[in-house]
Amino acid sequence: MEKIILTGDRPTGRLHLGHYVGSLRRRVELQNSGQYDKIFIMIADAQALTDNADNPEKIRQNIIEVALDYLSAGLDPARSTLFIQSQVPELCELAFYYMNLVTVQRLQRNPTVKAEIQLRGFAEGAAEGDTTQRQGIPVGFFTYPISQASDITAFKATTVPAGEDQEPMIEQTREIVHKFNAVYGPTLVEPQILLPENSVCLRLPGTDGKAKMSKSLGNCIYLSDTADEVKKKVMSMYTDPDHLRVDDPGKIEGNTVFTYLDAFCTPEQLTKYAPDYASLDELKAHYRRGGLGDVKVKRLLIAVLNEVLDPIRERRHYYEGRIEEVYKVLEAGSAKAREAAAATLAEVRNAMRINYFEDKELIAEQARHYAARQ
Ligand code: TRP
Repeated sequence: MEKIILTGDRPTGRLHLGHYVGSLRRRVELQNSGQYDKIFIMIADAQALTDNADNPEKIRQNIIEVALDYLSAGLDPARSTLFIQSQVPELCELAFYYMNLVTVQRLQRNPTVKAEIQLRGFAEGAAEGDTTQRQGIPVGFFTYPISQASDITAFKATTVPAGEDQEPMIEQTREIVHKFNAVYGPTLVEPQILLPENSVCLRLPGTDGKAKMSKSLGNCIYLSDTADEVKKKVMSMYTDPDHLRVDDPGKIEGNTVFTYLDAFCTPEQLTKYAPDYASLDELKAHYRRGGLGDVKVKRLLIAVLNEVLDPIRERRHYYEGRIEEVYKVLEAGSAKAREAAAATLAEVRNAMRINYFEDKELIAEQARHYAARQ
């Protein structure tokens, strides 16, 4: 069986280090490994609209940001098909048929959707006439896991590199595939999620130490941040609030600077920037004992991050001077994605037997039936 990747991001803002260690870095590695037959990377604008109906301009402006982040991170249009979700209308048709295979009750149990409903303030039963609060859950938002199942199955994806929060979506997709194949005959492929192998990368905390790096919390380091911005952000990062003097013993648990080092610092970088330590564990032990200051550890992190971000910045600068070309890449990618999705949709229609005009047997049989009664 072909090995196919499909994954993507909502274009609601620029991508940050959480996206990078959670999935983007992996995608680039998988692309460069040459082990996949096809790779589709999607800018999920239609999904972003499910909870941004009142702000389409935000989505429209951020498509280019995500595309620039993709290209700067090292996704290569010659090897990965980059496309825009809304430009592949076949995905909507698939979702419409899949909707019949999923219950409202099942959707209500999806933990990611549940959490997002809380986060977005889609509280049900807001007081009548209350225009300050969002009133109720948009149907499109509630059903986006079904739309995501179309995204994945349209390309017969076997592998979805994504963060932990996407696990319920993949589970839902597998259920839909299972049900579809059971009812209409084997047609669709069950995907597997590919999570980051390093547990700290599952959910990178924000620079403020909060559980998640997130634009709305204002605790992000963006792939497009300058070296100066990164320096400022790291210098003001959350560490151990009880580590007041250099000689005090320090805590590693919940200390964001060390979490980031775990996510980013390679042994080579440690040797290069902190040659006194043979491993991160030694560095941590020194901090725990006391005698290692926050600023020193932060300087190491700044060097490590800039080594990761410098080539990304360089590529971004290159593509920022070629915006028309980037749109051409997305247009060509969308055409290619559309072809692949259309092929799957044709199989789905065949399996469901809603391909009436191609079904010569159906027409002939009904013609015979009625001819006999003439
Ligand atoms: N839900 C993903 C996000 O919030 C975006 C997305 C849409 C996606 N369709 C997908 C991810 C299919 C993986 C596979 O960023």
